[in-house]
Amino acid sequence: MSDIVVFGAGGRAGRAVTAEARGRGYGVTAVVRDPARYPDLRADGVTVVPGDVTDRGSVGAVAAGHAGAVHAVSPYSGPEQGFDALDPAFFVKAADALLDGLAEAGVGRLVAVGLGANLLGADGRPVMDDPLAFPPEIRPFALAHTAGLHRLRERGEGRVDWVMLTPAGHLEHGGDRTGRYHVGGERLPGGDREPWLSYADLAVALVDEIERPVRHRTRVSVFNFREEEG
Ligand SMILES: NC(=O)c1ccc[n+]([C@@H]2O[C@H](COP(=O)([O-])OP(=O)(O)OC[C@H]3O[C@@H](n4cnc5c(N)ncnc54)[C@H](OP(=O)(O)O)[C@@H]3O)[C@@H](O)[C@H]2O)c1
Repeated sequence: MSDIVVFGAGGRAGRAVTAEARGRGYGVTAVVRDPARYPDLRADGVTVVPGDVTDRGSVGAVAAGHAGAVHAVSPYSGPEQGFDALDPAFFVKAADALLDGLAEAGVGRLVAVGLGANLLGADGRPVMDDPLAFPPEIRPFALAHTAGLHRLRERGEGRVDWVMLTPAGHLEHGGDRTGRYHVGGERLPGGDREPWLSYADLAVALVDEIERPVRHRTRVSVFNFREEEG
């Protein structure tokens, strides 16, 4: 069985996808910027390596020989961090480095995590444009994320077959793994139902798209409904 390379493996989504991949028997190369900060990531079948998702040479060096790559990197991890250090081009640089570095390394599949803020709300506007639905102070991050999606689309016909899975609604850390999820399109699903997703079920969807690629060079939404739980 081939290995999967996970960029952002020390984060919430990265840890969930590493656990999901290990549970299915894949070896995981866990890419973090500074392995010394992540001694707890080391485990049977998990190799922790340094890497930078915005550097094509770094991407190519760590990715060679893998069946697929997961992009779970975020330059913004919570409100306490602020936006002074946010590079608006971060996700564009990551998209370019991943598409170029993976192609050079001969890795043909990239599954990236998206941001629900750029799905369309009931009025047809992106969720991030509705201050009642999305905190305006986080908009710079949403714009940076959206620029990365645009870059993937611009470069869509290249050698790397990418897909972006966008969690619709709240993404819950520590939520249960149900093994189930819905897949939608550009619109926020729900109506009077509440879309959400646990990181564990996001990881199920991410590894599914590495294992059996169904969607190609596109972005989709992934979600469960609270009302279906229990
Ligand atoms: N509802 C939603 O739509 C929703 C909700 C939450 C998150 N998300 C998305 O899910 C994805 C993952 O988020 P998360 O919550 O798992 O984030 P997280 O817990 O903050 O983890 C992000 C990781 O990215 C790593 N990182 C930052 N810059 C890097 C670089 N240049 N190269 C390599 N790694 C780097 C960080 O590790 P180091 O600092 O150690 O390098 C960190 O561990 C993001 O795209 C985020 O926007 C979507």
